[in-house]
Amino acid sequence: MKKILITGGAGFIGSHTAVSLIESGYAPVLVDNFSNSDQSVLKGIEKVVGRKLIFCQGDCNDASFLKNVFKRHAPIAGVIHFAAYKSVNESIEQPAKYYQNNIGSLLTLLDVMSDRGIPHLVFSSSATVYGFPERNPITEDFPLKEVPSVYGKTKQICEQVINDVVRAGKPLKAIMLRYFNPIGAHPSGLIGELPIGIPNNLVPYITQTAAGIREKFTLFGSDYQTPDGSCIRDFIHVLDLADTHVKAFGYLDTVQDKSCCEVFNVGTGRGHSVKEVVQTFEQANGLKLNYVVGPRRPGDVEACYANVDRAKRILKWEAKRSLSEALQDAWRWQKNLQKK
Ligand code: WQD
Repeated sequence: MKKILITGGAGFIGSHTAVSLIESGYAPVLVDNFSNSDQSVLKGIEKVVGRKLIFCQGDCNDASFLKNVFKRHAPIAGVIHFAAYKSVNESIEQPAKYYQNNIGSLLTLLDVMSDRGIPHLVFSSSATVYGFPERNPITEDFPLKEVPSVYGKTKQICEQVINDVVRAGKPLKAIMLRYFNPIGAHPSGLIGELPIGIPNNLVPYITQTAAGIREKFTLFGSDYQTPDGSCIRDFIHVLDLADTHVKAFGYLDTVQDKSCCEVFNVGTGRGHSVKEVVQTFEQANGLKLNYVVGPRRPGDVEACYANVDRAKRILKWEAKRSLSEALQDAWRWQKNLQKK
């Protein structure tokens, strides 16, 4: 079985991608420093796949740690780099921490990959790199504009670093996946999103409100130029997102050149409003959500959803799961969390 190293493997997307890789016949090697994840996630993955994981605890900024992982688990066929800080607000308050960690860990990883002759990299990027799009759906050739958060800036810079390494002719075959809004959880209820502290993102805030952990959910803004006045996003089930990484490695195996750099939007290609998410959550789970409408959240984009033709055509991938399914899976996971 081909071994794929997953940095940030105990994270929300990393853990679900580990499941998809195993189910597709790969052997993931997970790396995480638990700075924004929990050890319990590893047990959850093992329960889902029914086998022990290969896991190494450490920091991707630590070159000697990474070199050791590559040596001990050789041969590594490729790497998926998820490990990064991702709080939009925190990135604005602590820019140096974000630049150091998010860009430093990529530079260290690229150096060790080059040292070990590892050719394939899938990089976890984000639709946030587009900034405020002039129109939707967004295609990969849209200009990358000024983004309000340092988090978004680090993703833009990391993309540029990978682009420039490939352009310099170094032996690297890279795919950069621009995630839109990942939501949901594995249907088993054994793994899911595990925000530490007060959630920034929409769906975990909704599920924690429904679970009584949060008193009420505030819908940020109902005066946007959208059909129901609330923001529009492309909410994609985390398992569909996980499957894109498997398809990405399949594609990289077909690339003959010694270096390439491809970018793909990863979304459903459909926009849903925040109000629609609330209504769908209530209908799908048979409950009423305690929510109020509040002012807009600074920095929010009015509408952002993907054109996914490129991933369909080249990766032979498209999202299969519905918004309702994702919201049922998210709620099942939240209820299981309460039982722990
Ligand atoms: C979605 C919508 C909010 C919470 C961010 C990052 C992006 C990616 C995904 C990492 C917005 C509204 C939210 C709440 C609300 N992260 N909302 N009440 O801002 O689209 O993207 O997370 O890669 O990089 O920028 O996602 O879930 O925070 O917000 O009304 O309590 O839900 O205003 O319209 P966002 P989000």
